[in-house]
Amino acid sequence: MPLAVEAHQLVKRFSGRGGTVDAVRGVDLRVEEGEVFGFLGPNGAGKSTTVRMLTTLMTITSGTARVAGIDVSDEPDAARRGIGVALQEVGLDPRQTGRELLVLQARLFGSSASQAADRAQELLELVDLVDAADRRIKGYSGGMKRRLDLASALVHQPKVLFLDEPTTGLDPASRLTVWEEMRRINAQGTTVFLTTQYLEEADQLCSRLAIIDGGLIVREGTPVELKAELRRRRSLPQDPSLDDVFLDATGRTRERIAGQVQEVQG
Ligand SMILES: Nc1ncnc2c1ncn2[C@@H]1O[C@H](COP(=O)(O)OP(=O)(O)O)[C@@H](O)[C@H]1O
Ligand SMILES: [Mg+2]
Repeated sequence: MPLAVEAHQLVKRFSGRGGTVDAVRGVDLRVEEGEVFGFLGPNGAGKSTTVRMLTTLMTITSGTARVAGIDVSDEPDAARRGIGVALQEVGLDPRQTGRELLVLQARLFGSSASQAADRAQELLELVDLVDAADRRIKGYSGGMKRRLDLASALVHQPKVLFLDEPTTGLDPASRLTVWEEMRRINAQGTTVFLTTQYLEEADQLCSRLAIIDGGLIVREGTPVELKAELRRRRSLPQDPSLDDVFLDATGRTRERIAGQVQEVQG
């Protein structure tokens, strides 16, 4: 069985007039089918750049990546059919209704009108937007827009769903709803590759996770393994939290992290 996501020594170097930025400096990833894989890291760590390379949205400077067994550089079109992606910036047309958007997406992927209508209804149920389906998107809350964006990433039944900070900036109640949807999507057999700055989110949802900092992976494992490793190394009387693991891995303080999260929400 091919891995859902496999990357070898993935590198992204941005070169411009301002000089060069080594955003991703040699990342290896192995995500099994059916996992919810967490990709954690502070602002600027290289999460979005990695997601963009894995999803064919950005060229790879060096290294290789396969999604659902397909090399994303060699066969981008074939790879895209297996990939769903919801990016950090949600781009929805405010004048459309939620249902119109999903029907249009399904039509673009080659469904007939009646197939598209059925798929839209199915997805609206999945993300709990049936009641709002025929209202214009401009009246949706932030959480509803995120859920619609999630649904639109699933229209073509991708094998792997990439979500880039799907809950950043959401209020706690909306965040819980999105978590529930991610669980439901994963239970239907979709592998989820989730970037987040929220440690609790990773702890709740992810079977395995990697922490990236400065373009390099600094920790990898299950939440339980990562906590146990830190506990042993520091001879702690009890398991630390995933926050502690993150702070240890990135050498950051709580204050700096709090500042960063505020920046994102502001
Ligand atoms: N288009 C770009 N041109 C130049 N530098 C970029 C570009 N996109 C991202 N970067 C830089 O690459 C680094 C990683 O960014 P990014 O992948 O967005 O991090 P994250 O998603 O973890 O916050 C940052 O230093 C960022 O400033
Ligand atoms: Mg990002």
